[in-house]
Amino acid sequence: MRTNIIFLCVAVVAFCLAAIRREPSAYPSATLTAAVADSVDKETGLALDPNFMIVKAQCTSCHSPKLILQHRFTRDEWLSKIRWMQRNHKLWDLGESEKTVLDYLAKHYAPSQSAYSRREALRNVKWYKLEN
Ligand code: HEC
Repeated sequence: MRTNIIFLCVAVVAFCLAAIRREPSAYPSATLTAAVADSVDKETGLALDPNFMIVKAQCTSCHSPKLILQHRFTRDEWLSKIRWMQRNHKLWDLGESEKTVLDYLAKHYAPSQSAYSRREALRNVKWYKLEN
């Protein structure tokens, strides 16, 4: 009888320890998120680089940064979006920051960069016929 109780206690303790140990693996994406978060600002989701603060200051006061994150444009297309906002939505003259902002947008949000972190489409694929 005594041994049974001791065995039960050991089993309960072991179970609890196992449960505690396993806790981190309940969030398998935690380390992944941390890795991604290194290069992305947590608050805005915008890519972190030396020009980030200027872009944040110029581009996130009227609308969500998601409007930037959702789009992929060439440098010229980004410039025409800026002109469009200046014509229609009271965006101010960006002055000397304009070049910095365009550098940043063209670097991080160009058409070749997917909004969904998928790899680029395969090129020069050689298709072959499946045998029956
Ligand atoms: C003065 C306010 C203001 C500022 C500052 C501003 N925008 Fe906008 N932007 C707007 C408005 C208004 C819209 C239209 C929103 C909508 O359609 O809901 C817009 C739309 C956009 C769109 C979507 C365009 C489309 O084709 O749908 C993008 C991309 C964008 N802004 C990027 C930027 C960038 C990059 C900056 C920094 C240079 C910036 N915005 C700064 C007002 C602003």
